[in-house]
Amino acid sequence: MKKQILCIGAGYVGGPTMAVIADRCPDYVVTVVDINEQRIAAWNSDQLPIYEPGLDEIVFRCRGKNLFYSTDIPNGIRNADIIFVSVNTPTKTFGAGEGHAANLQFVEKTARSILEYSQSDKIIVEKSTLPVRTAQTIQRILHSNNKGLKFQVVSNPEFLAEGTAISDLNNPDRVLIGGMETEEGRQAVEEIISIYANWVPREKIITTNLWSSELTKLVSNAMLAQRISSVNSISALCEKTEANVNEVAEAAGLDSRIGPKFLRASLGFGGSCFKKDILNLVYLCRYYNLPEVADYWESVVKINDYQATRFVRNILQAMFNTVADKRIAILGFAFKANTGDTRESPAISVCKQLLEEHAALAIYDPKAMENAKLDLANEKGNIEFCSSAEEAVRGAHGIVIATEWQEFTQLDYEALFRTMQKPAFIFDGRNILPHKKLFEIGFDVYSIGQKPLTHFQGIVV
Ligand SMILES: NC(=O)c1ccc[n+]([C@@H]2O[C@H](COP(=O)([O-])OP(=O)(O)OC[C@H]3O[C@@H](n4cnc5c(N)ncnc54)[C@H](O)[C@@H]3O)[C@@H](O)[C@H]2O)c1
Repeated sequence: MKKQILCIGAGYVGGPTMAVIADRCPDYVVTVVDINEQRIAAWNSDQLPIYEPGLDEIVFRCRGKNLFYSTDIPNGIRNADIIFVSVNTPTKTFGAGEGHAANLQFVEKTARSILEYSQSDKIIVEKSTLPVRTAQTIQRILHSNNKGLKFQVVSNPEFLAEGTAISDLNNPDRVLIGGMETEEGRQAVEEIISIYANWVPREKIITTNLWSSELTKLVSNAMLAQRISSVNSISALCEKTEANVNEVAEAAGLDSRIGPKFLRASLGFGGSCFKKDILNLVYLCRYYNLPEVADYWESVVKINDYQATRFVRNILQAMFNTVADKRIAILGFAFKANTGDTRESPAISVCKQLLEEHAALAIYDPKAMENAKLDLANEKGNIEFCSSAEEAVRGAHGIVIATEWQEFTQLDYEALFRTMQKPAFIFDGRNILPHKKLFEIGFDVYSIGQKPLTHFQGIVV
């Protein structure tokens, strides 16, 4: 008989992860459940609820064979041998730990549902990113049963990055599995290893104790974000000293001890995870009375906020200290390229700050328009949602590149320039455009951590 895998939570992690498991493991039946009926309906339709390169193909190949999406959570739990918990773990917005601690209500509700509907022993896999020692809480809830059932909790954090989720899942740097150091714990870990062993080389599947595994996920995200904040902090210094942050990052990154990745200066990191996971780490450090450690990691988030604020300040200064009633084309709204996800996107902060300055925004993103509308739904001011970059730019005083979509590097900037108000500004928040060429076309070009290329040089205002 085929083993039954259930995933609770059909989001950016549960959806792609389970699709790849179903694709790679024909001996398992994989069911993904969610309380969100709309989301499940979309997973069952031709228009999947999230955009990820390569995802459609896999879902369409496996759906209805060994991959199912459903809202029937009780039945899913009853039938499952292994349950992945992939629900959201946002930052708490109320009560103790507000603004830092993880809101674990969805995880706890899931554990209680598992307890309520289970009729057999199960392995519970923490896929969500959780504070270290959450498995203990889950275990306590699950073992408060008088049904005589046994549950083994295993940690298997997900390291996929949105935009490259499918290739990350198909070729992970490593798969991390943490379990209890008991005989049953080791058996549960072996069960999870045997899923991944269908396609991941054995040496890339590493096992640790539960707490190391839970903590590793927070630490990995904190370290990645810390590199971005490091290079962004240096970009501010570059702008003062005429050093070029791209050159500095490239030269520093060629040191094999440093390496080149995540050293690209930008208007800041976004995404649902980096900020919340660092704040969670900060909360844990404060909880365990480690204020110096907490402050160290909190500064990574502070630099990120500073970077977006600094970017807007530079826009204002360049545009003669006022953007009121000026049309500004915002190209890109997703937190990074190749995703429609806008959670914690720096574009949100930039747009809100520009709206406070009474700018008229014309927003275009190839995949994130629906999310952009939701994110700005409560904002007052002049906002136009456009269906192309050309439409957004027409009549604009300035262009802001907020997401590094490749299509923005391929636009006909000469043609765009002709349709804009003059002087025409470009603020490249991702350092992806050919700045010299744009300057020669006639733009005043501002980027991150580099000397602006303006046509006003020598004119003292
Ligand atoms: N998004 C990423 O790139 C990423 C990467 C690695 C890890 N993670 C972690 O994975 C977890 C999930 O992230 P996500 O981006 O997929 O979140 P998401 O918000 O896209 O999806 C979570 C889903 O869980 C569902 N849900 C919540 N409570 C439920 C319940 N009681 N029963 C059934 N369904 C329930 C929600 O309706 C939602 O659809 C988080 O802990 C996150 O930190 C995310």
